[in-house]
Amino acid sequence: MSKLRGKTVVVTGASSGIGRSTVLDFAEKQVKAIILVSRNKERMSQVSSEISDKCESMIFPCDVSNNSEVSKMANEVLSVYDHVDILVNNAGIGILGKVADQSIEEIEQVTKTNYLGMIYCTKVFLDSMLREKTGHIINVASLAASFGIPGLAAYCGSKFAILGFSESLQHELHGTGIRVTVVSPIGVKTNFFQHSSFGNKFKNRERFFLDPHYVSKAIIRASTSNRLEIVVPFYMRGGIWLKNTIPFIVNPIVGFSFRRMLDD
Ligand SMILES: NC(=O)c1ccc[n+]([C@@H]2O[C@H](COP(=O)([O-])OP(=O)(O)OC[C@H]3O[C@@H](n4cnc5c(N)ncnc54)[C@H](OP(=O)(O)O)[C@@H]3O)[C@@H](O)[C@H]2O)c1
Repeated sequence: MSKLRGKTVVVTGASSGIGRSTVLDFAEKQVKAIILVSRNKERMSQVSSEISDKCESMIFPCDVSNNSEVSKMANEVLSVYDHVDILVNNAGIGILGKVADQSIEEIEQVTKTNYLGMIYCTKVFLDSMLREKTGHIINVASLAASFGIPGLAAYCGSKFAILGFSESLQHELHGTGIRVTVVSPIGVKTNFFQHSSFGNKFKNRERFFLDPHYVSKAIIRASTSNRLEIVVPFYMRGGIWLKNTIPFIVNPIVGFSFRRMLDD
């Protein structure tokens, strides 16, 4: 029997890419209900219709970068289900550009969506998890939580911050029955790179990118794991180890490779 049977799951960024695939995979695990959260109602309705014969589902149009919208969403969710077992903080965006060229609004948008959005959603469901003494918070970061990439400073900053916040939170929640796991994928074939700022810059790297399903499988594994961070694919943990051990060799290579792409 699935360990996830009967669970109530919230997935942010559920309208597309990794989030959509995560919803479809949880639905296969006999969960009780999945709550889909993102801004685009039509795309969430489409995803919800794909799981209608598997479990209950609710859709909530909500901008996670807006704390009052997040509070409203959580109030409605908790009035129906009174407890959320698994929260997947997956909503995120990237905007490509050098810090000197980006507006403060662009930097704020990335930071508020990826980092503060994760915190807003965590805060609104944490009390009910503490009350029930059970829960799992899964934060989707990136390999960009371990490597600073030129052209993605705000994005990398938000993902480094997610990892640091999650590590602290995991320590704070020790012994409460609530776990925190970060899932950190390398490049994934999704709509992420459709933002106009990317142009064709990542086109020739796309052939190395993962299928979103590969990442959603890791998110499902994360929901029953005690680990703080799951790197996808697992062997990229070797790359992170190398970066942390010999940064004076790895950083110039990363910098050179992405600067060239940025300036092309
Ligand atoms: N693709 C990659 O290469 C890659 C690699 C590592 C990590 N990641 C991370 O994976 C996560 C999912 O991205 P993806 O690759 O699946 O990209 P995607 O296909 O563009 O999906 C992003 C999702 O986030 C939602 N979203 C964006 N801004 C939002 C906001 N303010 N409020 C609520 N929802 C919002 C989008 O829905 P709406 O537009 O409907 O709001 C969409 O459902 C992100 O956190 C991203 O940083 C991606």
